[in-house]
Amino acid sequence: MNAPQKILTVFGTRPEAIKMFPLVHALDADDRFISKICVSGQHRGMLDQVLQIAGIMPHFDLDLMQPNQTLDSLTANLLTGIGRVLDAEQPDWVVVQGDTATAMAGALAAYYRKIPVAHVEAGLRSGNIQHPWPEEVNRKIIGSMAALHFAPTQTAADALLRENVEPAAVHITGNTVIDALYWITRKIEIQPELATGLAPLEARFAGKRIIGVTCHRRENFGGGMVGIAAAIQRLAARDDVAMIFPVHLNPNVQEVMNGLLAGLENVALIEPLDYPNFARLIGICDLMLTDSGGVQEEAPALGKPVLVMRETTERPEGIAAGTARLVGTDADRIVAEASHLLDSPSAYDAMAQAHNPFGDGKSAGRIVELLAG
Ligand code: UD1
Ligand code: UDP
Repeated sequence: MNAPQKILTVFGTRPEAIKMFPLVHALDADDRFISKICVSGQHRGMLDQVLQIAGIMPHFDLDLMQPNQTLDSLTANLLTGIGRVLDAEQPDWVVVQGDTATAMAGALAAYYRKIPVAHVEAGLRSGNIQHPWPEEVNRKIIGSMAALHFAPTQTAADALLRENVEPAAVHITGNTVIDALYWITRKIEIQPELATGLAPLEARFAGKRIIGVTCHRRENFGGGMVGIAAAIQRLAARDDVAMIFPVHLNPNVQEVMNGLLAGLENVALIEPLDYPNFARLIGICDLMLTDSGGVQEEAPALGKPVLVMRETTERPEGIAAGTARLVGTDADRIVAEASHLLDSPSAYDAMAQAHNPFGDGKSAGRIVELLAG
């Protein structure tokens, strides 16, 4: 048998941890690999809750998060911090996920050392470098360096081929977010007490239609966030609706949302939920209003329509499948689209019953086989 390959997975934010833990579990269970984990700590509390529920103990934790961190200081610290880990560990592969600063700097630090990079969730493109900002550029940078590209869908694979990526390096694997969602759903079935955090709100809002809300995108700071808040205020005037809104810890989000929405009867502004309780929120809501990438993929897997509060999306598959609609951040448009779904059972059913295009829950296994070569 060949010597095991040393794989260093590098991640640092909540969504990366959620999408990487199925792969970490699969690598840990496979003696063809020595699995090492480096977390950057780009996020702290929001990352740690995922590590805890997934039972992941990183070998390296750079603990980099600073309050209201800037992109340049974060990126500089990531590059040097991850570089030091690579020098110490000398892995055979570095695996990064998605499009965060951690993923981009992790890939760049590996490239500087001629260590091959494998990219999970490769090939997502909006075609606009300002939306999402800076993620569209981050993933293009990673795509230009990676030796293996794990595209979640045919659309993503096609985007890479259009950029002249070597076809043999592109593999369609599905998105590990669906593996993670099925894993947490099974875990909650066995341990229902993990997902009882919303019980008081479920009691308070009994009989109302629940809308789950999240937002955090940097390109929505300022006017976009104000538009989203205005839409929530207007939807909250309906007697039959309640909104549960776990507010992202980014201070730019906290200030706007706590400033404009505090005290509204039908709106619960709450701390970020841990992953099991967030899965529960998707389960109990009628629809999700979000600018999140991951939520666009998860909600359809649980049969919930998504209104995407962005100008563009790099996940056109959801729009094409009819599970998601792109509504921007203009309050009139968000209110009109949400009201249409709430008031038209046929429009609602068409979205809720559409097919989830993002994966079958077996992506991590495919990625492990591709890494094994
Ligand atoms: C980051 C990613 C974004 C991803 C998002 C997921 C970049 C440039 N941005 O955006 O792609 O969609 O994570 O949520 O990589 N904070 C805390 N505690 C936490 C997490 C964040 O207090 O656990 C606060 C800190 O003040 C921090 C700020 O949020 O400085 C911003 O965090 P950062 O990771 O830079 O940006 P996000 O908006 O979270
Ligand atoms: N999520 C969570 N708690 C919350 C909100 C979201 O655990 O209060 C999870 C959600 O299940 C999804 C991920 O966080 O998998 C999405 O993260 P985020 O929206 O911050 O980032 P993006 O996906 O836009 O990069």
